[in-house]
Amino acid sequence: MPEQQETAVYTHGHHESVLRSHTWRTAANSAAYLLGSLKPHMKVLDIGCGPGTITADLAELVPDGHVTGVDQAPGVLEQARATAAGRGLENVEFAVADVHALDYPDDTFCVVHAHQVLQHVGDPVRALREMRRVTRPGGYVAVRDADYAAMTWYPKVPGLDDWLELYERVARANGGEPDAGRRLRSWALAAGFTDVTATSSTWTYATPGERAWWSGLWADRTLASAYAERATAGGHASEEQLRAVSGAWREWGERADGWFAVLHGEILCRKQV
Ligand SMILES: C[S@@+](CC[C@H](N)C(=O)[O-])C[C@H]1O[C@@H](n2cnc3c(N)ncnc32)[C@H](O)[C@@H]1O
Repeated sequence: MPEQQETAVYTHGHHESVLRSHTWRTAANSAAYLLGSLKPHMKVLDIGCGPGTITADLAELVPDGHVTGVDQAPGVLEQARATAAGRGLENVEFAVADVHALDYPDDTFCVVHAHQVLQHVGDPVRALREMRRVTRPGGYVAVRDADYAAMTWYPKVPGLDDWLELYERVARANGGEPDAGRRLRSWALAAGFTDVTATSSTWTYATPGERAWWSGLWADRTLASAYAERATAGGHASEEQLRAVSGAWREWGERADGWFAVLHGEILCRKQV
């Protein structure tokens, strides 16, 4: 396996409060822009697959093909393997890899996909070049990332402005770019793609169940996760400030009129034949 080239630190880590959000994700709610281009026989690489719920959906969508899920964190791949096994999938496998230096020959995959990954990496343009290298001519590189500064919510709970400001500071100190969604097209062009379809889509949390889930996972993540540790260890926030931000999430979640929208940028890049 090539030496790991990543210079950034993955901001969230894989605490239970983080995986609570990742395991909610499906191909339908997170990769709809790609689904029309998938064919049953395709060979797919899912980079930064985390606990693998999207990866497993992709495997079901290519029943005559194959999906490889990779992540730089070996621990979370155990959960991904269990998810795939629990769903009886036999056309999926998992491996450790860094998107900056993939251990696959040129032109290997029909589709190379990454969801909520490029915002966390040290060199997203290099990552996209590497994704293109392992894609077959005529195949697709598909990427979707949130854009934190474009997230919007109601009502205005002042502590949530502090949350956004703090999150952006910690993510950038870790070497990432939390406002990645708006930059994906620019990064793809810089990586040499000439056929780039750029779209956007949202997640919306408004029902009592959605508000409780979204506010609860952020309230918990702010107090106990790699993100919380880096916020304090990096001198970005005191524990008291983290408690205040966590409380702001609970306050928003309890508001019966609460509404939260997460904007994402998406790019579907075709590799020239
Ligand atoms: C926000 S999670 C997304 C997980 C999954 N794609 C999803 O949407 O549910 C980002 C994942 O990317 C992984 N990651 C971060 N940097 C990476 C890199 N350089 N190469 C491969 N994976 C990376 C992290 O370990 C983490 O599991």
